[in-house]
Amino acid sequence: MTINVRLGARDDIDALVEVECSDVETWYHFTSKGRGDPASYDELSPWERTMHGGWWMDRAILTRYWDDIERLGIIPLVAEIDGKVVGHLDAIFSDELPLGHFLYLDVLMVHKAYRRRGVATALIKEAERLARNEKARFMLVEPQRYEGPSGLTYTNRGFEKAFDAFHLETSINHPEMPPEVQVGSIPQVQEAPVKTHTMICGWYNISAKTWYYGVNPNLEFLQAFPCHQLALSAMTNRGTYFFHLQQDRFDHSTGSLSLWAPAPLKQKELRVIFQASRTAASWLGIKTLTTKTIEGYVATLEEEGGFAVKSKAEPYLVKNTSHWNLEESGLVNRCSRLGRRNPEKKYGQAIWSHCYGRRD
Ligand SMILES: CC(C)(COP(=O)(O)OP(=O)(O)OC[C@H]1O[C@@H](n2cnc3c(N)ncnc32)[C@H](O)[C@@H]1OP(=O)(O)O)[C@@H](O)C(=O)NCCC(=O)NCCS
Repeated sequence: MTINVRLGARDDIDALVEVECSDVETWYHFTSKGRGDPASYDELSPWERTMHGGWWMDRAILTRYWDDIERLGIIPLVAEIDGKVVGHLDAIFSDELPLGHFLYLDVLMVHKAYRRRGVATALIKEAERLARNEKARFMLVEPQRYEGPSGLTYTNRGFEKAFDAFHLETSINHPEMPPEVQVGSIPQVQEAPVKTHTMICGWYNISAKTWYYGVNPNLEFLQAFPCHQLALSAMTNRGTYFFHLQQDRFDHSTGSLSLWAPAPLKQKELRVIFQASRTAASWLGIKTLTTKTIEGYVATLEEEGGFAVKSKAEPYLVKNTSHWNLEESGLVNRCSRLGRRNPEKKYGQAIWSHCYGRRD
């Protein structure tokens, strides 16, 4: 059995939909109130299908998403066995504060009937080759489940825990726009501010992708499942911040926040920006504001944003690429010191410290 990995193309769309759909046992109707009765695939609208796993669940939607793949520079790798597409991995290079140049591994899926034959491993190996060629410092992934098949697949390939991630929440009570903040819209053409700003919360994907969907909402999707979405800039006399608000499509009293702050962070100023984002959220009827972030920003969100940790999310995993030498980067001593205390975190903590500064 030979597994062949190559770059995917629009001609693969039907096969990719089949791969993704192989994972769904029961299909359901969805309305603006949430999940409804079981139904057959053919009975569902394209948008109802996407509720079972994203844009890959329907041919027409995936065809449109392919435009985003091209626009965002996503590299869609596909794996074949005997000429049949049986798996895929979307990889995307990113260069953003504070992480630098890295390869993010986004969607990974292997057809249910072809698992445990090395298909995912072959896809990840090809991504590793790309990362080395492009001199990415490391690869980053947020596995679907660290202690499940996805985490095991990545750790089997030498990926290690990098940072923990958390879901946080705050409630909104009669907020007012702070007088020192001016809010305005964000033009669609505005590029993600990845070189000047840090995404301190909203880690639902890498910064560039989260930004793109915030300033380019999918209007058809919003029509199918009505909810508010808003992308705003917030200016003080010292800097410009950006935030996106996304109302939950089924529970309109809840919404999520993504926030980009100019680097280096100014803690005190962040407090008024969080207040501005809470006020804007209240305009949309949001009473509970949620977000997701990585461990380095939790304290800032708690202290300046009034958020509290709700639950732990899956951790991010990293794998070094050969040219980035830990010894040469001077991190190895710190790395082994941390490693003695917590061997599981040895390498990840070194990357964390390199990007964010010492926290221990
Ligand atoms: C996770 C997934 C992509 C793995 O694909 P795969 O082609 O079966 O993976 P591989 O055959 O390359 O597995 C490599 C190794 O990972 C580990 N592994 C993978 N799946 C595992 C499982 N279900 N249970 C235990 N170990 C597993 C094993 O060590 C395996 O080596 P082995 O088979 O020699 O023991 C596949 O199960 C899948 O598509 N799952 C649903 C979607 C998903 O979770 N995607 C990941 C998002 S990050």
